[in-house]
Amino acid sequence: MTISLRPFLPSDAPALARLFRDSIETLAEDDYTDDQRAAWASSADDLAEFAQKLSESLTLVALRDGALAGFASLADGKIDMLYVEPGHAGHGVATALVDALEKLGRARGAKEIETDASDVARDFFAKRGYAPMQRNTVMRAGEWLANTTMKKPLGTPEKPGATH
Ligand SMILES: CC(C)(COP(=O)(O)OP(=O)(O)OC[C@H]1O[C@@H](n2cnc3c(N)ncnc32)[C@H](O)[C@@H]1OP(=O)(O)O)[C@@H](O)C(=O)NCCC(=O)NCCS
Repeated sequence: MTISLRPFLPSDAPALARLFRDSIETLAEDDYTDDQRAAWASSADDLAEFAQKLSESLTLVALRDGALAGFASLADGKIDMLYVEPGHAGHGVATALVDALEKLGRARGAKEIETDASDVARDFFAKRGYAPMQRNTVMRAGEWLANTTMKKPLGTPEKPGATH
């Protein structure tokens, strides 16, 4: 199985909205209630707004053996979205996406990268060296959802032609 990444195209929006809903519905089941997941997923209900948000960010799409498997976006130095299709979870899709966003952030001269990690993604980010900074509770469509702001230093940008 090979994972490949490509930039987001506006025509991806409907499939990514479905993936976003499926990912929340299934993979967040242990950490958020039915009502919380429905409120979270409802942010893709307005497809035009969802597509615009992805277009305005640096959004990467992951394919696993050619099938749509996940996506992630970087906005203002922050990993804004990271969603994996349930059938492709646990196979390194999020790792490939976040590796690429960190590399792009570093290449742009960012000294650190942060994210508001869901309770599902907290251990994933902790394993990658993100430190918890603060706990947040945000209102989404009438429901309170908890997340954790986590930060990781990115170090010095790689020189062009560097082999590592
Ligand atoms: C969190 C999420 C993105 C992880 O995607 P994934 O493709 O399954 O992650 P990977 O396969 O790259 O996992 C990499 C490592 O993190 C670990 N990991 C992934 N999800 C984890 C979880 N929920 N709890 C604990 N560890 C987890 C894996 O075990 C793996 O560890 P290893 O390298 O020691 O084997 C995915 O579960 C998801 O889309 N969740 C729902 C949406 C969400 O919460 N998004 C985050 C918004 S900030």
